[in-house]
Amino acid sequence: MTQRISLTRYLIEQQRQHGLIPSELRLLLEIVARACKRIAIQVNKGALGEVLGSAESENVQGEVQKKLDIIANEVLIDANEWGGHLAAMASEEMDTIYVVPNRYPQGEYLLMFDPLDGSSNIDVNVSIGTIFSVLKKPNDDPKMVEPVREKDFLQAGKQQVAAGYCIYGPQTTLVLTVGHGVSMFTLDREQGTFVLTQENVRIPEDTKEFAINMSNMRHWDAPVKRYVEECLYGKDGVRGKDFNMRWIASMVADVHRILSRGGVFMYPWDQREPNKPGKLRLMYEANPMGWLVEQAGGAATNGRQRILDIAPTELHQRVSVVLGSKNEVERVTAYHLEADAQR
Ligand code: AHG
Ligand code: MN
Ligand code: MN
Repeated sequence: MTQRISLTRYLIEQQRQHGLIPSELRLLLEIVARACKRIAIQVNKGALGEVLGSAESENVQGEVQKKLDIIANEVLIDANEWGGHLAAMASEEMDTIYVVPNRYPQGEYLLMFDPLDGSSNIDVNVSIGTIFSVLKKPNDDPKMVEPVREKDFLQAGKQQVAAGYCIYGPQTTLVLTVGHGVSMFTLDREQGTFVLTQENVRIPEDTKEFAINMSNMRHWDAPVKRYVEECLYGKDGVRGKDFNMRWIASMVADVHRILSRGGVFMYPWDQREPNKPGKLRLMYEANPMGWLVEQAGGAATNGRQRILDIAPTELHQRVSVVLGSKNEVERVTAYHLEADAQR
């Protein structure tokens, strides 16, 4: 029988044998995984658990919150605040950062999350997920422990020390990187443990599948229109091959498909809200997903620049996103740069 490796054992081996993660980070990841298990239980209850529907409140970004957005946020905070590994947390669903209360020890890590990604899919029983990103709190003067502030979170995505997501779909799968490739763990519901089911995830460099919300087509910028139009012309156009399209409206589910079989995902800037750089959030969505995709051999840009190089100026900052199979992302990015050069 092939040996089953639990997430706990995997993380201990990463720490002990490979020296890839310190014990504090291992503890943090264990606790995030435990929180995801608790969220999965709530998600699975559906109508029986009274977890569906709107909470009739709005988050700081003016989006209506679903009950599960709030439940998932609370589960993540409750699970993480007492462990001593974190200084503070930030979430898509909270206006400002959540500093670990004084009654608990403060650690050196910062945790960011989109507690429930794909909210519009909760009530229709389509895959949703939790996305997370971990940074180290900067410490300019090692002799002094400065109180944690919002600006400590404003680090480029390339500074992340761990990132991942948990998808609540037909299976519950935790996908993780600590900077040495991407691993996937499937939740064994009978044992209550995440079990390693794939290591060294690789995204094919080429693809015939694209994901974008086509209903926004008339609002897109010319380079995005050009790229999608070429895909739609398929064999009869410059691409010389037919493309397929998928749009799940849960970034976790679209990214999970891309990590599993390739593809390109785009949520570009559009003219509906010209002053916003995009819909998706840099800190809770684009950075962790961008890093996972890069770690699996793919690429992630905002159409012009590598996502992980962007220096954030605000916690809830938005960004355009193009990620997935390397050659397609490079093509979309090249179309933007060409258009800029002609302006
Ligand atoms: P969230 O539910 O966390 O607000 O995120 C939803 C995001 C993302 O998951 C998805 O790709 C996109 O919004 C869907 O947008 P459309 O509704 O425009 O399709
Ligand atoms: Mn989201
Ligand atoms: Mn969300």
